[in-house]
Amino acid sequence: MNPKHFISLLDLSSDELRQLIQRAIELKNNRNPDFQPLKGQVLAMVFEKSSTRTRISFETGMSHFGGSAIFLSPRDTQLGRGEPIRDSAKVISSMVDAIMLRTHEHKMVTEFAKYSSVPVINGLTDLLHPCQLLADMQTYFEHRGDIQGKTVTWVGDGNNMCHSYINAAIRLDFKLNIASPEGYLPDTHLLKSAGSRVNLFDNALAAAQNSDLLVTDVWASMGQEEEQKQREIAFKDYQVTEELMNNANADALFMHCLPAHRGEEVAAEVIDGQQSVIFDEAENRLHAQKALLELLMCR
Ligand code: CP
Ligand code: NVA
Repeated sequence: MNPKHFISLLDLSSDELRQLIQRAIELKNNRNPDFQPLKGQVLAMVFEKSSTRTRISFETGMSHFGGSAIFLSPRDTQLGRGEPIRDSAKVISSMVDAIMLRTHEHKMVTEFAKYSSVPVINGLTDLLHPCQLLADMQTYFEHRGDIQGKTVTWVGDGNNMCHSYINAAIRLDFKLNIASPEGYLPDTHLLKSAGSRVNLFDNALAAAQNSDLLVTDVWASMGQEEEQKQREIAFKDYQVTEELMNNANADALFMHCLPAHRGEEVAAEVIDGQQSVIFDEAENRLHAQKALLELLMCR
């Protein structure tokens, strides 16, 4: 049987995604230390980029389920010395039960999956960050119920997080307003795949109108540090401010995958304010990914 991978949110059907969210909520609210469905199983985690939340949530999740996780950095494995991905995928998957990768190139994860005999999980690439969306959607469902038919506004870079929001809009059937500056728009192919659910704006205030959820992310993602100055200029009108929040619906939530830069993509009063659910989002990485590990590894 071919392993089931999680490289994009689109790897799950709408039903599977809704079930996973409900399961994550259940695992969060009724933790049973005796429930160890992954006893003796091992998750290998390859990190080409830094991480706090992703590493801790996967490691803790495996431990809760009776398994363990191995942290692998290209700096001290043969991956960083040019061993072919095909060989690495075959070797690593012959010894562990699942593999999570955080990489620059998206193709590295898809290549890995092609040659892996065990499930491969995308822990963030330059293109997508699907695990974060599991947590964000769980958080929305917990606070406000099903997101179907709601309006979400993305403010800022058309990056990996924005792309995963486009996929979430497709799977969970919500409207997505995207306000990004010229030159930083999301991938056109992905935009096209979402059809009329997604609308582009060149004005963040207009995009926020009638919105149920405002989301943003850093102006310079990992690997783009040298573009910081030029991006500060390009994104100066794309900060989530109190004015933006006030233009959204009264019960709108604010989300950010973290780490955040207060005073850049979001005003401190917003991210630390009443409508912000950033710490629920961060905690839910653990619960949502436990539901994911269960789905992929208990087959
Ligand atoms: N949001 C997120 O993926 O955080 P880390 O980079 O800390 O894993
Ligand atoms: N867009 C950010 C997300 C970090 C979790 C990055 O790729 O660095």
